[in-house]
Amino acid sequence: MPDAPVGQSKISFAGVEKVYSSASARVTSTRALEAFNLDIARAEILSIVGPTGCGKSTALNILAGFELASAGAVQVDGNVIVGPGPDRGVVFQQASLFPWMTVLSNVVLGVKCRGLPREDYEPRARRLLVEVGLKGFEGHYPYQLSGGMQQRVQIARALINEPEILLMDEPFGALDYQTRLLMQKLLLRLWEHFRPTILFITHDVGEAIFISDRVIAMTKRPGRVKREVRVQAPKPRDYEFIGSAEFTALERELVMAVQSEVEVDEVPAAH
Ligand SMILES: Nc1ncnc2c1ncn2[C@@H]1O[C@H](COP(=O)(O)OP(=O)(O)OP(=O)(O)O)[C@@H](O)[C@H]1O
Ligand SMILES: [Mg+2]
Repeated sequence: MPDAPVGQSKISFAGVEKVYSSASARVTSTRALEAFNLDIARAEILSIVGPTGCGKSTALNILAGFELASAGAVQVDGNVIVGPGPDRGVVFQQASLFPWMTVLSNVVLGVKCRGLPREDYEPRARRLLVEVGLKGFEGHYPYQLSGGMQQRVQIARALINEPEILLMDEPFGALDYQTRLLMQKLLLRLWEHFRPTILFITHDVGEAIFISDRVIAMTKRPGRVKREVRVQAPKPRDYEFIGSAEFTALERELVMAVQSEVEVDEVPAAH
């Protein structure tokens, strides 16, 4: 893919709207996104937080090419997205590994299906597995791995195509707190190495701040960008950053932004 002109965003959502229409008269259609505008720079890590059902996964799925926008446009390097592609690696919340395949086979499946030669992808897959901390587990099956290890396999699988963009939808949501912190640091280390542009969705405001250059909070559905904060602390970051003055101030701002959206519906007006 040719380099984008200087100043052009790597990713651009412009006036994106998404309506899920229903075939049944008894089920109303859902307006998931409306006037959703967002630009993401090359090699930026951007996280999205927001109330449940506000359209976060919808935005990511349109960028991945799994869904079509009802209106507006999503572009990568100035080209409108028309479907999934190897330039965008995707990591989901639940590890979606094939249980009958070994770790190595799961990681290489996509490239193998593209017809690339084994001597090209297999050494790369083995190196990636070392990089995500799974050396020695190449021949294991998914059931023999912990949840955190399965997510590491998913990340290796997403990176095998050396994608310029990594899309992560609550990838650490099902993990315990300690494993989650380890995975956040792993992600920052991988970013230093590969420099992908990352769109990361999470419910955990602290996680978003720890890994991101920028965090946006969305409104409730139909979702659009409500608040945007920039994280100034240089990357790579260590655990000391958690609890620093910058971290705490951003955390407060983002929690308030999200919570005020949730509480509009939940809390009855005072008499
Ligand atoms: N395939 C679909 N068909 C119909 N409606 C859908 C579909 N996918 C999502 N929706 C609806 O669109 C809205 C936004 O869903 P989405 O999954 O994007 O929310 P989200 O912000 O990712 O929520 P969560 O934080 O719970 O994952 C929801 O009301 C959901 O019911
Ligand atoms: Mg979601």
